[in-house]
Amino acid sequence: MARHLLLPLVILVISPIPGAFQDSVLSPTQEEPEDLDCGRPEPSARIVGGSNAQPGTWPWQVSLHHGGGHICGGSLIAPSWVLSAAHCFMTNGTLEPAAEWSVLLGVHSQDGPLDGAHTRAVAAIVVPANYSQVELGADLALLRLASPASLGPAVWPVCLPRASHRFVHGTACWATGWGDVQEADPLPLPWVLQEVELRLLGEATCQCLYSQPGPFNLTLQILPGMLCAGYPEGRRDTCQGDSGGPLVCEEGGRWFQAGITSFGFGCGRRNRPGVFTAVATYEAWIREQVMGSEPGPAFPTQPQKTQSDPQEPREENCTIALPECGKARRPGAWPWEAQVIVPGSRPCHGALVSESWVLAPASCFLDPSSSDSPPRDLDAWRVLLPSRPRAERVARLVQHENASWDNASDLALLQLRTPVNLSAAPLPVCLPHPEHYFLPGSRCRLARWGRGEPAFGPGALLEAELLGGWWCHCLYGRQWAAVPLPGDPPHALCPAYQVEEEVGSCWNDSRWSLLCREEGTWFLAGIRDFPSGCLRPRAFFPLQTHGPWISHVTRGAYLEDQLAWDWGPDGEETETQTCPPHTEHGACGLRPEAAPVRVLWPWLAEVHVAGDRVCTGILLAPGWVLAATHCVLRPGSTTVPYIEVFLGRAGASSLPQGHQMTSAPPLLCQTTEGSWVLVGMAVQGSRELFAAIGPEEAWISQTVGEAHFLPPSGSPHWPTGGSNLCPPELAKASGSLCAVHFLLLLTLLIQS
Ligand code: ARG
Repeated sequence: MARHLLLPLVILVISPIPGAFQDSVLSPTQEEPEDLDCGRPEPSARIVGGSNAQPGTWPWQVSLHHGGGHICGGSLIAPSWVLSAAHCFMTNGTLEPAAEWSVLLGVHSQDGPLDGAHTRAVAAIVVPANYSQVELGADLALLRLASPASLGPAVWPVCLPRASHRFVHGTACWATGWGDVQEADPLPLPWVLQEVELRLLGEATCQCLYSQPGPFNLTLQILPGMLCAGYPEGRRDTCQGDSGGPLVCEEGGRWFQAGITSFGFGCGRRNRPGVFTAVATYEAWIREQVMGSEPGPAFPTQPQKTQSDPQEPREENCTIALPECGKARRPGAWPWEAQVIVPGSRPCHGALVSESWVLAPASCFLDPSSSDSPPRDLDAWRVLLPSRPRAERVARLVQHENASWDNASDLALLQLRTPVNLSAAPLPVCLPHPEHYFLPGSRCRLARWGRGEPAFGPGALLEAELLGGWWCHCLYGRQWAAVPLPGDPPHALCPAYQVEEEVGSCWNDSRWSLLCREEGTWFLAGIRDFPSGCLRPRAFFPLQTHGPWISHVTRGAYLEDQLAWDWGPDGEETETQTCPPHTEHGACGLRPEAAPVRVLWPWLAEVHVAGDRVCTGILLAPGWVLAATHCVLRPGSTTVPYIEVFLGRAGASSLPQGHQMTSAPPLLCQTTEGSWVLVGMAVQGSRELFAAIGPEEAWISQTVGEAHFLPPSGSPHWPTGGSNLCPPELAKASGSLCAVHFLLLLTLLIQS
């Protein structure tokens, strides 16, 4: 087994071996005496989800420095040899010069004077010849030190497993390092070595977990020579900067290095355990590189007790982990709903994001008198959570640094004095990672947020569908602005309601958050409305850009991977789009075709065509109604059908049997003076895409004569030329849809 591994593995770099070692021809054999008492820390003494190690617990842990800073971890396996990961030393397929690296031994905290630590220069770096990239395995390297390490309680080698050594899956082992404590979140000062307990996962389990659809669109093949450790539910893992460091398991009182931290997808994510280089697989290669070096690494035989463990071979099952956040029994009964009670003010609504943290708008807590510093009397604050008999006390308030000036960052985190037990309620809401793409058409609802007005009617429970990024971005963005692609941070999220709330109930002063559901799991997708008044659709600030800040502060909020990956028939948009010309008021006043009973827009007309279709018309003047051409005229037909127009009843009565509302709704904007302006008419088949009325002003006023146009100062701004509110791809594809003859004016034959 070990023999055939020798063939493909070739030393890439051989530095001159110091004379002292040159004549040593001691060839290690399977039965060699152990020359070092490896893997026994002298009893004295990131890793994601870990904790500070005690000094001296992991005396083989080294830090590899390059360019003045820590880059990777490593393990001391013999006085002159350090084991690490190949990828730490490769740039664009070439090995970096050994002279640029140094090894720190016996170091605990990397801040300040490195007491008891010492440094060694690197004489040579050796990488297997077949190493190319981490996903293809063989991610290991040997570093020969320029001079032997001075061994002591804080510096001691670890034991290496033989090729025949079997680590039983399910075994609890430990990974150590100075790496990031979360994705893109470096270990904070004083840079104390972190340790985390990880369970060995069987190959089938690991392969099964990595086969679950996830955010990184690649399938990983677990290869021989790889080893997985971690948990299906994630949350504990190694991370960037831990690479090269050891994964060690205790057997018979000694610590054996089972793995070398190699890679993972993200850090601590669900169903994405860390992947390690299986050290035992490379026994022969390691022996060959260190040959002649005295004393060399120790490969003790596996203690019998473990080898004959009756648990092996244990049944491996593929238990994939499901989200541990965002489950609600029914919409509206949000188990994460939190009310923060600050004495002397109305309750502030927020959301539970972990067992100890509540996210809420910072504006609830900003003291208007002292602009920046929040009140400090946290003793009197309380947090009400669902199904909790008593109010929780608050230990800490952390405001987003931009909270006081950026509405999109109006966020604060409150730490509870005592963590709550997470069950059905309270339960945290899921938070999106920055690259989350809520698919257009996602089902969303509103939840109370901040100190809004009490909920009115069923508004909060209205189900909404998320509009595509193009619409949301362009309706509120500037013209010609580039539309963010899926996976890029969106500027806004727009839910479109199928049933509009009642007239007059603008949510102007209310504060809502946007919850969106994926595969039955609720995400906090957006916070508070844009200050959009009664504009439609309403837009929310996306929360996903704040994921890193929230997880940095809370170290345990439930950032959950995207669960819905069905891009639909159109697939993923990959071409950058820009926004078309825009009215200065954006798009507003969109009324659905099926307006609720009681809604009577006095200018709305029902245009009944040939006894079988009903379109929306707009009364422009006593004798004129405007309608969409496609509704009235059949394509290719020149005969004008029989048309009846009903006024003063649109939406108030049900339509005749067999009639369908075929015409799309008008787009109305209200000026600051309160008058409504017809801005556009939705194009065929769309409720969201509007042909602009503005460019037709000349045609309409010539035909109708007495139509009312607002003076230029009061009217929405129209760019010159035959512009429309069409997405560019539609304008290109079917120009006529958006062109001048889209609109049709009907003269009314007033019958008395
Ligand atoms: N490649 C990383 C490094 O260079 C180690 C990543 C480990 N990631 C993980 N999720 N276990 O430090």
